[in-house]
Amino acid sequence: MGKIIIVFSLSLMFFSCQEKVNQCNNCAEELVKENKQKSVMYEPSELATLMLEMYAENENWKQEILKGNIPNSFPEKYKTMHSAKSVNENAGGEFYNAMTDTYLKSIEELSNASKENAQEKYNNMVNVCIQCHQQICPGPIPKISKLVIQ
Ligand code: HEC
Repeated sequence: MGKIIIVFSLSLMFFSCQEKVNQCNNCAEELVKENKQKSVMYEPSELATLMLEMYAENENWKQEILKGNIPNSFPEKYKTMHSAKSVNENAGGEFYNAMTDTYLKSIEELSNASKENAQEKYNNMVNVCIQCHQQICPGPIPKISKLVIQ
């Protein structure tokens, strides 16, 4: 029984790492380092967790905007993007911080949008996600691109 659990956790760990490598191309060495230090299982970083929440939230907004509704508030939590811990070596850097500001501004503009320009403002925001990712974390771009309203 014990052996089965170990094999299972090892394969889980391998699987998430694989995913991570595809997503940002910087996980492998982090994971190796981390696992050497603590011999623990991989867990998504604070920033990765926030990103996944943002992704899910945006899927909802996309549907709402298609129905003609405008999101009028945003989780304050998004502002923690500046300080959230990340495994990405560029997170917290100059480019990252500038893009974070641009992103926070783009969601503010979306929340002030009118019915006429909500779709445009929403797509502008998704483009900011993509722009930042092109520079420092290209892996999730195909996924993020699905958020665009065609
Ligand atoms: C300022 C730069 C920046 C912006 C803007 C940005 N991201 Fe990210 N994103 C990152 C970084 C850096 C990571 C890697 C985080 C980590 O693994 O620690 C990441 C990771 C992700 C991941 C992968 C999470 C995982 O590990 O499974 C997804 C999905 C994602 N972002 C979606 C989005 C979406 C959707 C938006 C826009 C709503 C967005 N991102 C905006 C920098 C950004």
